[in-house]
Parts: sequence; structure tokens; C-alpha cells
Amino acid sequence: HQTLDAFPDNFLWGSASAAYQVEGAAKEDGKGESVWDRFVQIPGKTYKGTTGDVAVDHYHRYKEDVALMAEQGLKAYRFSVAWSRIIPDGDGEVNEKGLEFYDKLIDELLAHGIEPVLTLYHWDIPQALQDKYGGWESRQVIEDFTRYADILFQRYNNKVKYWVSLNEQNIFIMLGYRMAAHPPNVVDEKRMYQANHIANLANASVIRRFRELDINGQIGPSFAYGPTYALDSHPLNQLAAENNEAFNAHWWMDVYVFGEYPKVVWKYLERKGLAPAIEEGDMALLKSAKPDFMGLNYYQTATVEHNPIDGVSSGKMNTSGKKGSSEASGLPGVFKTADNPYVEQTDWDWDIDPVGLRIALRRIDSRYNLPIMITENGLGAYDKLEEDGSIHDDYRIDFLRKHVKAVQEAITDGVNVLGYCTWSYTDLLSWLNGYQKRYGFVYVDREELDEKELKRYKKDSYFWYKKVIETNGKEL
Ligand code: BG6
Repeated sequence: HQTLDAFPDNFLWGSASAAYQVEGAAKEDGKGESVWDRFVQIPGKTYKGTTGDVAVDHYHRYKEDVALMAEQGLKAYRFSVAWSRIIPDGDGEVNEKGLEFYDKLIDELLAHGIEPVLTLYHWDIPQALQDKYGGWESRQVIEDFTRYADILFQRYNNKVKYWVSLNEQNIFIMLGYRMAAHPPNVVDEKRMYQANHIANLANASVIRRFRELDINGQIGPSFAYGPTYALDSHPLNQLAAENNEAFNAHWWMDVYVFGEYPKVVWKYLERKGLAPAIEEGDMALLKSAKPDFMGLNYYQTATVEHNPIDGVSSGKMNTSGKKGSSEASGLPGVFKTADNPYVEQTDWDWDIDPVGLRIALRRIDSRYNLPIMITENGLGAYDKLEEDGSIHDDYRIDFLRKHVKAVQEAITDGVNVLGYCTWSYTDLLSWLNGYQKRYGFVYVDREELDEKELKRYKKDSYFWYKKVIETNGKEL
């Protein structure tokens, strides 16, 4: 039994959300349409056809939500800005009204001593840019995204100290261009790798602009990383696990930190004719924009085994955190997913694995040697609102307690962890799963097709986290 190091005094005990999932007010105050506003209208794409038109109405109730955070003692709140509120058509006029909403939110947070963590992009590119030039598939997006980021950098410099560039590039690219499960609803590997390269350039470009403007703060991407395990010690299964790390993790994080694509993936893509087109200056741009920290969104680990050359090939490949199907999937000759017999699963069949979080932190630390901000971690579950307004989510407390403990163990191992943001603060729209898959400390009373009064209720986990914050993690 080992004594664990204490959490640092300035540790950011936080929680997170994203614009489309909480704000609502989809057409208010001059907001333009985003690709998500459009995508949810396609029949069959989301659970019961749910949209974020109203979401949990955070746009109108942000004061109430921030008051709940303040009462809980929250140290940091991560939220995203909707690009289409700031520049409704993506590249034209700036919408002052949209900025005013974030002015008010940020000021409200600061007034209560809560550190704002601002995500520039959580999947909602303006629809106008999708229509005009195919969004992430055109190099024009690099300039437009940088202009949008520039507006926010200048406006919130000295107020916002922590900035997240892209949220889960791996997820929005793979679900958007391989599985047609996100906008722009495409299944095309070639286009996927090309859009991904352009997103890398856009990410680097905003980080570079951040440096040019000498913004007083830190910036990094948030990456959805679930460490891979080999099914067993068979050498070919071990190799498959190495492959999965390369294809599903290094493929992105190496570019962020080293400005290089990992060789093993690059050569595979070249052989398949799928490698993205690199233009002059691209690699120099990528190399010039090392982040200050790595944002980690951790939900679960992946387990893989050898996949023969004529083996499973499927668009449903594991995307580190988005399994949701027990069907094996993978890349022939590279890896295929397997069930991990040692872990339990959530209501949505995601593996519950706190040790995996410690491993994730350790791997990122040893490969990239950067501070890490846990920008998301949480449990999506069905919750029950009792007659007396309580919600007994002991399963969520259990999940979070074990994960916080794993963070403390990683800190004891020597990893520099800046903070821990749970997903999510209030309940919110779970993109494809409606409102029944709940993640929050604060229950929001609404159903898919019935908004009710959107009343807020504190769950048991709310009080548990309050205590954790008060004792700086001494009482879990
Ligand atoms: C992350 C996203 O992928 O996982 C969040 O950044 C998302 O926006 C969260 O809500 C949980 O995923 P899901 O599919 O359960 O909502």
C-alpha cells in the first residue's frame, strides 16, 4: 500500500459542456446555422430525431447554472463557443450579439472565481462554410477558422487562461467522414484523411496565431484517447495493440506535438493510395505549433487482437471511446477489436476502466512530455428523478471516485496533471443518444420530445464532488 501524493493546491476541479449540447437558442440573436443544426434534421440520424434547438436552455439559464457551480465550489468550467454565433456565415460579418453572450458567461464565471476553459471548436462549423467549400475539406477553412479564433483570443485575452483548440478531432473526422454518423454524413476514406490533414493545419494555425498575439494563457487540443490493450500475450496480438495505438492515437497526437505523421500509418496509407496531399509549407506549419498542454478526454480503453489480412474490415471500427457495438471491427492485417473480459460496462456498453485513465496519463506523459488537462471524463447513465427531487446516482459517484483516484495515482507516478473536468456539468444532449443518456451533476428535467420546464435538480454526485473540491481530493 503506497501513500499517494496530494493533489496540487491549484488543481483545477472542473466540469465541461459544449455549445450545441447545452445552449439551445439555435436561431436567436443572429446565430447562423451550424452543420449540427442541419444534420439532426436527417431522419434516423439521432435518437427519436432529437435536436439541440432548445437543448437545456443554457443560453437563457447560464446564471442559474453558474450559481450552481459556485455553490458547489467548482474551480473550472469548460465550455465551447459556437462559431456560428460569432460569425453566422463563417467568414463574413461579426455578430456582436453572439459575442455578448460569451462576455456575460465569462464574466459570470470570473465573478464567482471559476476559471473559464474555452473550447474554440466542438464540432459545429457554420453550415454556410460547408455549403460554400465543403468545410474541413477545403484549405480555405484554415484562414477562416484562424480569423474566428483571433476574434476570441483578442476579446478574452487576460480573462480566459485555458484554451482548447479542436475538440476530439479524431472523433469528428472519423464519425463524419468514415461512418456518416456525424456531419457532413460522408463515407469516404480518401476524403477523410484529406479533411483530417486540413484540420491539423487549422489546429496548428490557431496555435501559431495564439503565439503571435502573445496571449496570456495556455492552449492545446482535446483528444479522445483510450489506451489499447492486447487481448493476451500472443505476439501478434501485442503487435495489433501497437498498431491500434499508432492508427488511433499517434496518428493525431504525434502531429500535434512533433509535427510529424507516424511512419507506420503513413506507409500503410501510401500503399492504399489514401495518404493526404501535403503541400509546401504544411509540415513546417505543423512543426511550428506545439501545444502547451494535451487535453485528454477519457472514457474507456480498447482491446484488440490480430486481424488476418483477409479479416474483418468495417466502417464501425473502434474510435477510442465510441464502441457501442460488440461486433468486431478493424483494419485487415492491422488489428481488430475484442471484448475485454476483465471490465464491466456502462448502460451503453462502454468499458468501465479507471486503471485505463492512469495508463492514458502515463503514456501521454512519457511520449509527449507535456502537462495534461483532463478535459472530459464521465459516465453516461439512466438516472431517476425521485418524487422529492433527489437523484441517487451512486453508480456515477463510484465511477468518478475511482477515476479521480486513478488521476491521483498518476500524479504520484510523476505525471503533471493540470486539472480534471468531468463530463458533464448539467445533463445535456448526447449527440446521437438524446437526453436519456445523462452525464451531469445537475439533472435537467426534460425528455427527448418533451421539454417540460427544464428544471434543475442536484444529484447525489453534486454533493459528492462538492466535498472532493472542498478537501482538494483528500476525501473521495
Ligand atoms: C465526447 C464528446 O466524445 O464524448 C462529448 O466530446 C460527448 O461532446 C461525450 O457528449 C460523450 O459521448 P456521448 O456519445 O455519450 O454523448
